[in-house]
Amino acid sequence: MTDLTSDNFRKACGHWATGVSVITACDTDGRGYGLTMNGITSLSLDPALFIICVDNKSETLEPIRRSGAFAINVLASGQQELSNRFAKKGPDKFDGVGHTKGSTGSPLLDGRLMAIECAVQEIHAGGDHQIIVGLVRALSLPESEDLQPLLYYRGKYAALGA
Ligand SMILES: Cc1cc2nc3c(=O)[nH]c(=O)nc-3n(C[C@H](O)[C@H](O)[C@H](O)COP(=O)(O)O)c2cc1C
Repeated sequence: MTDLTSDNFRKACGHWATGVSVITACDTDGRGYGLTMNGITSLSLDPALFIICVDNKSETLEPIRRSGAFAINVLASGQQELSNRFAKKGPDKFDGVGHTKGSTGSPLLDGRLMAIECAVQEIHAGGDHQIIVGLVRALSLPESEDLQPLLYYRGKYAALGA
């Protein structure tokens, strides 16, 4: 067995291949916030629920709480730059980034694979993260069958079949 150290736990987590999403929210003053996230999963079909896991240090956490809503923007292949931009802290993440306002007020990023808009239903403490359960309010499926997902594995971006 491998030693259970924090480094090895990180490495183990990196072997979970995922897609990449940007979670966005619009604060009560109208300002957009967002962070790159792969800690997401669908939870329930009826009612339609989705889970996101937000670091307690994330600057997007309070805007999600205050607005009571968030959008999951699942990124398409070729959107690595967008992923890197939203994986850093900073006040101007939306500068020059094409987006529209979704029906729940959260920003929807242009060029995404698909988006799910949620209202915050429950928030649970989970170690150094908050587990946020969202009730799905709106969907935007891919506009083209040709769009492919952006993938993430062992700290690197990947494409389907690569
Ligand atoms: C591929 C990838 C996946 C990530 N997944 C998560 C996640 O599941 N939860 C989280 O809180 N941060 C995650 N992060 C880190 C955040 O994107 C990063 O801490 C960001 O700077 C937070 O921004 P904010 O403080 O403006 O909200 C991930 C980063 C990358 C590159």
